[in-house]
Amino acid sequence: MIRENVPQQVAELVDVTKEFGFDGQRTLAVRDCSLQVMRGELVLLLGPSGSGKTTLLTLIAGLTSASSGNAVLFGRSVEEYSGEQLQSVRGKRLGFIFQNFLLLDFLTVVENIALVLQFAGSARTESRQKAAQLLKKLEIEHLSERFPASLSQGEKQRVAIARAIANDAELILADEPTASLESAQGFAVIRLLHRLAKEWGKCVVVASHDLRLKEFADRVLYMQDGRIGTGIAKGSSLNGTL
Ligand SMILES: Nc1ncnc2c1ncn2[C@@H]1O[C@H](COP(=O)(O)OP(=O)(O)OP(=O)(O)O)[C@@H](O)[C@H]1O
Ligand SMILES: [Mg+2]
Repeated sequence: MIRENVPQQVAELVDVTKEFGFDGQRTLAVRDCSLQVMRGELVLLLGPSGSGKTTLLTLIAGLTSASSGNAVLFGRSVEEYSGEQLQSVRGKRLGFIFQNFLLLDFLTVVENIALVLQFAGSARTESRQKAAQLLKKLEIEHLSERFPASLSQGEKQRVAIARAIANDAELILADEPTASLESAQGFAVIRLLHRLAKEWGKCVVVASHDLRLKEFADRVLYMQDGRIGTGIAKGSSLNGTL
């Protein structure tokens, strides 16, 4: 359910360029990119290796500072946040999902998620209860007591998604979330990301090489050599059916 009276824009990049390296060895990873991402939409960033997808996600998250241009996160320019504020905003309102999951192997699934809530200030028992509720809502409660090492790649990724939204993050940035998954597992992961946008009103931005994901996206942006090509608006064929 998408709440009323809440600003619809979650993040924006305005003519952002990111350059890495020094004189002789410069790489323009992102060039003059502008985009806006909104609540309730799943935006897919497609492009070949090295085209700048990961860099763009880190610019949206304020994890990388732009060489020029402006990045706006939750209505405020990233430059206006202090380092501490930015860290706090990231911890509370933003979930980053990586290809390699980064789950803690010595904790069970439910403990992995409860830990995030504890870091954010919830008491131990409450964190565990909330973590269990979230797993149930995402229909993966059967994995609660398992250790990450015993999970399939797709199950790990769904747990990583649960962890990324444990603090009720509004913006979910997923970098190649289906890259190491075979078809069915990849489908389960993207279906979950799609639900987060459509049922929970989250803003989901997914970077990928995986063309199968196009079916699930509201908008597909193509990246090439650091630039965003003409965005192709595309109504999700699965709207309302998941
Ligand atoms: N920290 C860095 N230092 C120097 N160059 C970098 C750095 N990060 C990225 N680059 C360069 O910027 C360009 C874009 O990289 P990026 O990782 O954003 O691409 P990508 O589209 O995510 O690629 P992939 O699909 O392989 O993950 C590449 O040429 C890369 O080598
Ligand atoms: Mg990448």
